[in-house]
Amino acid sequence: MSRPRTLADITTPALVVDVAAMERNIARMATYFAGRSCRLRPHFKAHKCLEIARRQLAAGSCTGLTCATVAEAEAASAICDDILIANEVVDAGKCRRVAALASRVRITIALDSAAGLERLTAAAREAGVAVGVLIDVNVGQDRCGVAPGRDAVDLARRVIEVAPGAGRGGLLLRGLMGYEGHAVGIAERTAREAAVRQAMERLVSTARMFRDHGLPTDIVSAGGTGSYDISSGFREVSEIQAGSYVLMDTDYASERLPFEHALGILGTVISRPTAARCVADCGHKACTKDHGLPSAKTPAGASVTALNDEHAIISLPPGCTIEVGARVQLLPSHIDPTINLHDVIYALDGDTVVGIWAIEGRGYAEQRQLTND
Ligand SMILES: Cc1ncc(COP(=O)(O)O)c(C=O)c1O
Repeated sequence: MSRPRTLADITTPALVVDVAAMERNIARMATYFAGRSCRLRPHFKAHKCLEIARRQLAAGSCTGLTCATVAEAEAASAICDDILIANEVVDAGKCRRVAALASRVRITIALDSAAGLERLTAAAREAGVAVGVLIDVNVGQDRCGVAPGRDAVDLARRVIEVAPGAGRGGLLLRGLMGYEGHAVGIAERTAREAAVRQAMERLVSTARMFRDHGLPTDIVSAGGTGSYDISSGFREVSEIQAGSYVLMDTDYASERLPFEHALGILGTVISRPTAARCVADCGHKACTKDHGLPSAKTPAGASVTALNDEHAIISLPPGCTIEVGARVQLLPSHIDPTINLHDVIYALDGDTVVGIWAIEGRGYAEQRQLTND
């Protein structure tokens, strides 16, 4: 198969990235954190692509990468030696993989249960490695996390009791995290700011309790794209886990953040049944709709009215001359799961393909390994 040289050569559906827009997003975020004591730990789950992560790290202001899954952390470890898995891992096999990773790079992982503590400790001891731990605090999202305050302190103390020092392998308490996921998506700035501040008060008051009890707070981690400049304003917050800013999606666009759309889903018109409608080959197997339908970047003035498995149904403005075989580009409403549907991203400078980047952290890596064994 020949490699595409221009947008017209790309087989659709496909992800395309406007490299210049992405680089501007990376530079804007790196510049915001330059000179601040709070650092950026970009979330790899937003794109799962080493080439993009490499550019984020190279831009500076970063203290490592954040990952959501063990497979992402395994992929990210090829280019980064300080990884936070900002998510609970309790499956014995995955705990062993976390321990194996910790023998090569610095790993820190979220913890919110005694069962998780037991399983991670067993894996770390078996491998004879130190696995860093952050107590995951529920700051209002009501997903994972122990209650702020007393419960968080109690679990932190358990970590220290169970694994006193990690010399012979065990867990090493490094601090706490609390992701304000219920607040990052509030479109209106004043309301978002109030919700984020309330969430961060829960986290930083717990961090102060940690200190009062002599517990470590080397890492106090929080934040996303909708809150990076609010949460980082709290003196106690040491790093921000934002991810979406690098490529952006239409869900975040309503917040008027200083970041540009850099990712598109390229499709081909396969049918033009009426003057007002065309159908492209980029349905929801190429572009998720969990955060609503994507927008149409091209043709101008068009809008997506439905996504079927393999079909994007597009309403066209009066006078639109688009023909069967022409290209359309959609803007995703949610980048993370959309990226996860694809194997590569085509990197574009205008219409020229300047790279084809693998999405190394996508899917269930362990399942792929099974079929390769
Ligand atoms: C734990 C955690 N941290 C940080 C983020 C930040 O992501 P975003 O940049 O998309 O707001 C997410 C997103 O879902 C998350 O789940």
